[in-house]
Amino acid sequence: MPAFNPVRTICRKRDGHVLSDEEIAALVSGFVEGTVSDAQMAAWAMAVYFRGMTPQETAALTQAMLDSGARLSWTAADRPLVDKHSTGGIGDKTSLVLAPLLAACGVRVPMISGRGLGPTGGTLDKLEAIPGFRTDLSLQEIRRQVRDVGCVITGATEDLVPADRRLYALRDVTGTVPSIPLITASIMSKKLAEGLDALVLDVKHGTGAFMKRLPDARKLAESLVRVGTACGVRTTALITDMNQPLGEMVGNATEVIEAVEVLRDRKHGPVRTLCEALAVSALRRIHRESPPEELQATVCAALDRGDAYEYFCRMVRAQGGDPTARLPLAEPRDVNADRSGCILGIDAEQIGYALIEAGGGRKHQGQPIDHAVGFRMHVEIGDTVRAGEPLATAYLRPPTADTVIRMVRDAIAIGEGTVFRPPLIAGHFDG
Ligand code: URA
Repeated sequence: MPAFNPVRTICRKRDGHVLSDEEIAALVSGFVEGTVSDAQMAAWAMAVYFRGMTPQETAALTQAMLDSGARLSWTAADRPLVDKHSTGGIGDKTSLVLAPLLAACGVRVPMISGRGLGPTGGTLDKLEAIPGFRTDLSLQEIRRQVRDVGCVITGATEDLVPADRRLYALRDVTGTVPSIPLITASIMSKKLAEGLDALVLDVKHGTGAFMKRLPDARKLAESLVRVGTACGVRTTALITDMNQPLGEMVGNATEVIEAVEVLRDRKHGPVRTLCEALAVSALRRIHRESPPEELQATVCAALDRGDAYEYFCRMVRAQGGDPTARLPLAEPRDVNADRSGCILGIDAEQIGYALIEAGGGRKHQGQPIDHAVGFRMHVEIGDTVRAGEPLATAYLRPPTADTVIRMVRDAIAIGEGTVFRPPLIAGHFDG
């Protein structure tokens, strides 16, 4: 390769050329070391946003980002390492159920999760609704807990994929987040740093998802699966619905409560259905000789016998929390229908913004979260309601309560006619 010059690399991408692996590696390491400036990296990200990247370039970017920091290492002879990643949504508490569920099915789960991003909720924020729950474990603590308990859900440490932390912060303020190759490298570099054997991806589409349109979600799923597979991880993606919140609860404490209802009280519904499907998809990649019905039975038994709940309790205790603690909720208020009719649509993103307005999400980085606010939705797309009936119960604080109630009511479209409920699972990709 000729001597690396970041300006030339930016211009080459701007003009639609394909970058070499070496050029991409030099750009990323220069960015982390400080010889490529934030302005240059942001200009390059914008060029990628418009020009895209080939699969080979995307894989090279993922690898360069992965090489920027530490990785988790494991004893090979132990149980397989499996994780799930969701592209994010509203009411998506599947990680809270899935990590202990997979552990109860005999695999190790080193789940590194994130905080809320825009209107979508974050697993760490939800778990911190449990008093005392720690999400800042060191690499050594993560390794120990996975060995002793079987599963962990914690935040990324400073030394895991530093290139992503810096690039993501730049993308966030330069309008370059929604780029399939940049999202792919960002997600997959973090997941590959976990040293996994298998990964299941939950790629969401719809009003509350990053990818509003199904074809874009499919493209993202293909890109993620391609990179995971090329890097030696057995990767599968489900394309799932985010045209309405997942399950009944939206918020932080509220979502922990629903996860516990699924784990301890055997609550059936979309959360359990999706968790079963994700768990079976992940286990299929590990136990390739087992028929899917057998894996499905294993997963259902782990939920029905209470094994997955037992793993949840052990995980929460190991991370400093009390799994039986009663989680406080703010003042309940009804959100009532102002007319009779069919629920034609629910703007899940608007529900996410209503949660932020209530204080359950962030308007700016580092803002503290009120874990006690949230919603219990009483309707789904396709239901019928009468004027005055409750659409949702909102747990709110007085200063913002009226505004939030209006936002939730406005997010739910009621009208004449009937609509079909969108299928929970719209597609499936295996690497
Ligand atoms: N989640 C990530 O981790 N990275 C992205 O780029 C988008 C969503």
